[in-house]
Amino acid sequence: RRPVTVSAIRAAKGGAPLVCLTAYTTPMAQALDEACDLLLVGDSLGMVLYGLPSTIPVTLDMMIAHGAATVRGAKHALVVVDLPFGSYQESPAQAFRSASRILAETGCGAVKLEGGAVMAETIAFLTQRGVPVLAHVGLQPQSVNTLGGYSARGKLSPEAETIIADARAVTDAGAFAVVVEGVVAPLAARITETIRAPTIGIGASADCDGQILVTDDMMGVTFGHVPKFVRKYADLGAEMKAAAAAYADDVRARRFPAEEHLYAAPKPSAADA
Ligand code: KIV
Ligand code: NA
Repeated sequence: RRPVTVSAIRAAKGGAPLVCLTAYTTPMAQALDEACDLLLVGDSLGMVLYGLPSTIPVTLDMMIAHGAATVRGAKHALVVVDLPFGSYQESPAQAFRSASRILAETGCGAVKLEGGAVMAETIAFLTQRGVPVLAHVGLQPQSVNTLGGYSARGKLSPEAETIIADARAVTDAGAFAVVVEGVVAPLAARITETIRAPTIGIGASADCDGQILVTDDMMGVTFGHVPKFVRKYADLGAEMKAAAAAYADDVRARRFPAEEHLYAAPKPSAADA
């Protein structure tokens, strides 16, 4: 299969749903690459991998290290890397400086940034200068300190209208697709009908042009709170605990290592005699 391009994602509007998951490392990318159209190196890695309380402390250097690792494991899916908090909000020029480092130092195909109408100028600046942008509207985790939490957006009509305007603005600015996170289902469907770019939903609606989940959540490797919109496809966390317990039993009972795990001593040769 040929590598997925930004144009292919854009062209998927209204077609077969886009299959997207997060990935942060080479082995995770190798495991997910075949099934997915798009792998997102999300700044959720701050919470999922580093135990941070939010995505706010995630740095550009962290995103670049995990972005490069993910690209090395992906042969097919388009790899998109999140611009972290503080690396793009100041100005279009700052955003370009950060995005160009991400593209050059990871080899990924595009960047993602959070924000609607306020980020339209920046999205236009980037896309006109060779940086494909995946936009992200609705619930924006990098705004947790101004929003005061992670509750669903667009429940009341003024907020819903603002989110639709945001999705229009980022599409008009040149975003090749739009992540729609944590909005009431009818709003996600309306956004999908309204904009030309494909929508990629998370906690949004089955009517979106694609879906994304945090892989560690859907595989059961995150041990804290898992949001309502996650379907658990595996319980790898339980398997990891069971494997560690079985290993502990074997080591304590001296059942491990066994004969087949040991290097045999060399056979005595004539010279030793
Ligand atoms: O950081 C992330 O994983 C994301 C997805 C949940 C869309 O932004
Ligand atoms: Na993110």
